[in-house]
Amino acid sequence: MPDASVAFGCYSAFMAKSKWLVTGAAGFLGSHVVEQLLENGQEVLAVDDLSWGKEEFLNPYLDVENFDFYKTDIREVANVRRILEGREPDHIIHLAALHFIPLAMKQPTLTVDINVKGTQSLIEASRDIPFKSFWFASTGDVYKNTESILSEDETPLEPFNIYGLTKYMGEQLLHMESQDFPNKSYVVGRIFNLIGPRETNPHIIPEIIKQLRNNPKKLSLGNIWPIRDYVPVDDAARAIIAMCAKASPGLKTCNVATGVGQSVSDLIKSIEGILGHNIEVTKDEDRVRAVERPTLIAKVDRLKDHIGWAPTHKVEEILSSLLQAEGIL
Ligand SMILES: NC(=O)c1ccc[n+]([C@@H]2O[C@H](COP(=O)([O-])OP(=O)(O)OC[C@H]3O[C@@H](n4cnc5c(N)ncnc54)[C@H](O)[C@@H]3O)[C@@H](O)[C@H]2O)c1
Repeated sequence: MPDASVAFGCYSAFMAKSKWLVTGAAGFLGSHVVEQLLENGQEVLAVDDLSWGKEEFLNPYLDVENFDFYKTDIREVANVRRILEGREPDHIIHLAALHFIPLAMKQPTLTVDINVKGTQSLIEASRDIPFKSFWFASTGDVYKNTESILSEDETPLEPFNIYGLTKYMGEQLLHMESQDFPNKSYVVGRIFNLIGPRETNPHIIPEIIKQLRNNPKKLSLGNIWPIRDYVPVDDAARAIIAMCAKASPGLKTCNVATGVGQSVSDLIKSIEGILGHNIEVTKDEDRVRAVERPTLIAKVDRLKDHIGWAPTHKVEEILSSLLQAEGIL
C-alpha cells in the first residue's frame, strides 16, 4: 500500500475524505486510480461499460463500503446524469476511451463516438454539479510529429492519427466548457506511454511478455526503433490524483511523463540483462505500423512545478516485476 504522503504530496485539503467519480475505472490506468483512492480512505464511484476493462480488476472492492460500481456506457447521457446528479462527486476523473491506436484506425467512427461524444456527454452531465475538479485523459499523440521534446508551451498541436485527433477534440471541449464556466476547475493530462501490471490493450510490453512466455529467447516484433517516454502506471495514477487535489479555477494542461526516452530495442536490452541471456529478435512485417512516430518524449517541468511529481520506479523495475509475475524470471 503506498504511503499517503508519497501518493498525494502535502495536499492537506485532499486528505479530508472526498467523493471521486472515475470513468474507465475497470481499465489499466483506472484500476490503479481506484486502488490508490480506496487505500487512502476516499469514496469511489466507478463507471465502466467493461468493453475493454475487466470486472476482475474491480471485484476486490465490490463489498467495500466506500465503493460503488456503475456498469454503464458514458455515451448514455441520461444514465451518466443520473449518477452525477444523484451522487454529486467532488472530483471527476475521465479515463474511459477507445485507446488502442491500431483499433482506432480500423474503427474511426466508433473512436469518435466514444472519445468525443462520450467526453461531451460527461461534460454536459456534470454541468450542474459543484465539483472541485474535472480531469481529462489526453495523450502525447495530440502533438505534431517531431523529434523535438514535446512541450505544452512550444510544440504545435497537430494530431497524427484518429486517436490523437479525438483526444485533441476532447481537450477543445474542455477548453470551451472552462470558458463558459470560469469558476470551475478543469485539468487536461497528456499521458505518454504507461507501463505496469493490468494492461488491457496489446501494446508493445504485453506483447513482448506474451512472446517470452512461449519462448524466453526469441521475439518477433515490428519496428524496434521507436523511442517512447514510458511512465509507471501507478506513478501516473498518483499524479492524476494530486493534480485533482490541487486544481484551481480555469483549465490547466500538463504532460504526464518522465522526460526520458527509450527505444523498444533498449527495452529488449534491459530484459536481456534481467534474464541473463540474449534474445533473438526477428522482424514481423505484419506488426510494422504503416506510419509511426520516431520519438515521443515529453517536457515535464510543468508537472514537476505543479505537484512536485517524479516517478518512483525505473522502467527496468517494472519489466522485472512483469517478467516475475508471468513466471519468466
Ligand atoms: N495506456 C496508455 O499508455 C495511455 C497513454 C495515453 C493516454 N491514455 C488514456 O488514458 C485513459 C486510460 O487508458 P488505459 O490504458 O487505462 O485504457 P483502457 O482501455 O485499459 O481503459 C479504458 C476503459 O474505458 C472503458 N470504456 C471504453 N469505452 C467506454 C464507454 N463508452 N463507456 C464506459 N466505459 C468505457 C473500457 O472498458 C476500459 O476499462 C484513456 O483515456 C487513454 O486514452 C492512456
